[in-house]
Amino acid sequence: MSWVRITIPENIPLREGRAVRVGGEEIAVFNLGGRFLAVENRCPHKGGPLADGIVSGGTVVCPLHNWKICLENGAVTKPAGESCGVATYATRLEDGVIWIELRGEQEAAA
Ligand code: FES
Repeated sequence: MSWVRITIPENIPLREGRAVRVGGEEIAVFNLGGRFLAVENRCPHKGGPLADGIVSGGTVVCPLHNWKICLENGAVTKPAGESCGVATYATRLEDGVIWIELRGEQEAAA
């Protein structure tokens, strides 16, 4: 596990996401207003870019077919009953920079 500097908060507009490539993984980082959440940038349906989706509450709506993904735990919340999800990453704000914790191989969302 290691923490990686990503960007300054000002680079991610409120209620939007941005894709970053770190350690061979593409990660979507979202600004939820004072806190930042990070998930794998690949929709579990057909690989849509979640960073380009619309943020709705604590979820993001995939831009391709409107699946909803919880940004807290990576679970699919719409359609109901889907057991798949995306990996999530711990984030922290330190020294005016957003950091993401990488865990090596992607893990399934808890
Ligand atoms: S690829 Fe995301 S909903 Fe289809």
